Amino acid sequence: MGTTEILLAALVLLLLLYYYLTSNYDFWEKKKVRGPRPVPIFGTMSDIFLGKTGLGLYATKVYESYPDEPVVGVYSLREPILLIRDLNLIKTILIKDFSNFVNRSMEFDQKHDPLMANLFFLNAQLWKPLRAKLTPVFTSGKLKEMFYLLNKCGDQLDNQLNKLNGRVVDLREITGKFTTEVIGMCAFGVDANSFGEDESAFIKMGKRIFQPNFKAFFKFIFRQFSPLLYRLLGGFLKDDILDSFFINLARDTMEYREKNNIMRHDFIDLMRGLRKEPQQLGEDVELTDSLVAAQLTVFFVGGSETSSTTISNCLFELAMNSNIQTKLRDEIKVELEKADGVITYEALNSMKYLDKVFNETLRKYPPVGILTRKSEKDYTLPGSNVSIPKDTKVWIPVFGIHRDEKYYPNPSVFDPERFSDEQVKERDSTAFLPFGEGPRNCI
Ligand code: HEM
Repeated sequence: MGTTEILLAALVLLLLLYYYLTSNYDFWEKKKVRGPRPVPIFGTMSDIFLGKTGLGLYATKVYESYPDEPVVGVYSLREPILLIRDLNLIKTILIKDFSNFVNRSMEFDQKHDPLMANLFFLNAQLWKPLRAKLTPVFTSGKLKEMFYLLNKCGDQLDNQLNKLNGRVVDLREITGKFTTEVIGMCAFGVDANSFGEDESAFIKMGKRIFQPNFKAFFKFIFRQFSPLLYRLLGGFLKDDILDSFFINLARDTMEYREKNNIMRHDFIDLMRGLRKEPQQLGEDVELTDSLVAAQLTVFFVGGSETSSTTISNCLFELAMNSNIQTKLRDEIKVELEKADGVITYEALNSMKYLDKVFNETLRKYPPVGILTRKSEKDYTLPGSNVSIPKDTKVWIPVFGIHRDEKYYPNPSVFDPERFSDEQVKERDSTAFLPFGEGPRNCI
């Protein structure tokens, strides 16, 4: 083949590739769904791919750019995704038509990512029986039984704060240590020694999950945006050290308790119970060490960052709003006095202003900026002519909704009274989604 033929072949290949990458870009236009104009290769999400923004902020920008649209069409590479703005549609997707939106949108392969076989990512077949059995561990009765563990961690936090002696510190780090300690204790049954001088293995592995590294970054990008590359390269990007640490920890803790007949009423004990009666989960589910570790890990990953950022955001707002801080401090003093100075489950429950302050923190700073679901079959959005094919991803822009003037006047003002009984009653409940909604909400 001569040079001309090679150049021609390369040109044809490039044209074909260009056609493949852009052929879908009229998908939303044909359905008369408005949205940002896609650019070749990246779709509408070049800022995400170029590391300029995150998913939550991107979705917020789109949400704010189309104030009169019930839905907005975007593209991730060449894949169409529907962003839902209208609260009634959101309710329908998350609750009424949940059976069609039972799954989230991220695919994974258990071989490459054994710890992803958890409640958050599992598909309906495994998710349903597991969720049904794991939900009871979070009932108020069970949380009451675990309260002594939370208090132990609270004492450690108190000691740590007393040692500071007025020094300026990074509170985000301290709240991170506190929630790691709580989840380590309640989920894995370990003392993570978060406040100790030397980092425990548990803390080191926790950091390994959260600190972005080269392998984890590419695995995430492939998994989210290119299933083919993920399938091909996922094995090379696997973190064996991390996976085996959590799988061994779960197995060893269960064996130790079994041998020594120890009961702590925590999550590990629930898993031991399920293992002894596997029929509770049905024939399709085998509760292997790896599956148990995956559930414990999602509690750690899903619970610690979300809670610690919420606590530090709350403390930041209290520092900025001294009147709110004083009011909250007074409530805590009064309720603690009634409970003889001991923080009990009941005392905590009676702190109504604290509840408002936390809700307002979650409104202004929702740790999870978007909710994701995937349509299980072809689906027509109620009250419209817009239909989406099976497997279309939908995004719910929580951050955008929480900062929308329409639902929260002066949204950047921190005002716990937005959560007074009267204001809550007047507002559409779907305008507050920090924990998601429907059967697949936060556990
Ligand atoms: C401030 C604290 C937290 C926030 C804001 C938060 C938020 C969320 C959100 C938004 C979701 C997705 C809901 C949806 O798609 O509708 C979720 C799911 C989940 N969260 Fe949380 N979360 C928090 C704490 C925790 C804690 C402490 C745990 C466990 C110890 C936990 C475990 C989970 C699990 C297992 C799921 C997946 C549920 C499922 O798919 O069935 N979260 N969380």
